[in-house]
Amino acid sequence: MWDATFAALSPAARAALDAGDAAAAFDAMHAVLDDAWAEVARVLVPGGFACVNIGDATRTLGRRFALHPNHARVALGLQRAGLTLLPEVLWRKPTNAPTKFLGSGMLPAGAYITYEHEYVLVARKGGPRAFSRAERPRRAAGAYFWEERNQWFSDVWDKLPGAPQARGGGGRARTGAFPFELPFRLIQMYSLPGDTVLDPFAGTGTTLAAAAASGRSSVGVERDAALAPAVAAALAAAPAAGRARAAARWAAHLAFAAARAGSGRPLRHLHASGHPVMTRQESTLTLWAPAGVAAVGSTAWESTAAPVAPPPAPPEPAQPAAAKAAATTASTGG
Ligand SMILES: C[S@@+](CC[C@H](N)C(=O)[O-])C[C@H]1O[C@@H](n2cnc3c(N)ncnc32)[C@H](O)[C@@H]1O
Repeated sequence: MWDATFAALSPAARAALDAGDAAAAFDAMHAVLDDAWAEVARVLVPGGFACVNIGDATRTLGRRFALHPNHARVALGLQRAGLTLLPEVLWRKPTNAPTKFLGSGMLPAGAYITYEHEYVLVARKGGPRAFSRAERPRRAAGAYFWEERNQWFSDVWDKLPGAPQARGGGGRARTGAFPFELPFRLIQMYSLPGDTVLDPFAGTGTTLAAAAASGRSSVGVERDAALAPAVAAALAAAPAAGRARAAARWAAHLAFAAARAGSGRPLRHLHASGHPVMTRQESTLTLWAPAGVAAVGSTAWESTAAPVAPPPAPPEPAQPAAAKAAATTASTGG
């Protein structure tokens, strides 16, 4: 899918592809990417995170079918750029099509395992990020729900909401776009509201839209100018996407809280809205969405993030009149 891009960027990659030399093409392509990782390492703030969604390639080159382990080579590239590798995510995109299997059918030993996953590599510049006293409220406002933590920080992401599950489906085949949920989740996990997110391979602008949808600024770099209208469309859709995602997160949380209460294990802390949460860290959690996105040039947009109000909390259970009077007396009478 990216042969032409790499051939345009690297004479060595072009020569290797023309010669059908898989090993040399792999090396030359990754040499191009190494330059990007060096720049990522340079511009990241100390303690900042780099997340790279990368799939391995299965292809026949020089008449030999082989797996080309991009994720392993990119991990090495990140490490060589001076970043510290951290545990990664395996993103699984199952398809049920019986035609997905390649090779010798039911006869051993010439069939290939179906490749249905990609990786999200995670690396950090230096040690854990330090937060100043002034940044603490912003960090607290960027908290996520306890049950989201349990899902998001697991090492296999089985199914992402809104993601096409079939391999190479639809727009992805043409642009390599990943589902909104992928950068959205990573942005909540690894940045604070008000931080700046960089996507050096911005494509159709999914990361930029996810950043705007969660109250983060962003910068995207993209060599294919033909994708600019897709980026504009993604940003125009960001306010609605942000509001929908915030509403879905609150709805999922309230369903979780109700299920816990129903099983006799209610959540013991309270969010500022009056809704129950699992931990005190969630008490000032705020979900954000852009109030609007306005173009301020052909490749620049401005948006203001606004907190999305949680659903109204249920009213306090009404107390019988006698009990209420007694309580008032007790509190005023000392
Ligand atoms: C896999 S796509 C990313 C798609 C994006 N995540 C999305 O959701 O739309 C990779 C993108 O990187 C761009 N690209 C490749 N090499 C580049 C370079 N050297 N500088 C900037 N962009 C580049 C390609 O044109 C392509 O749009």
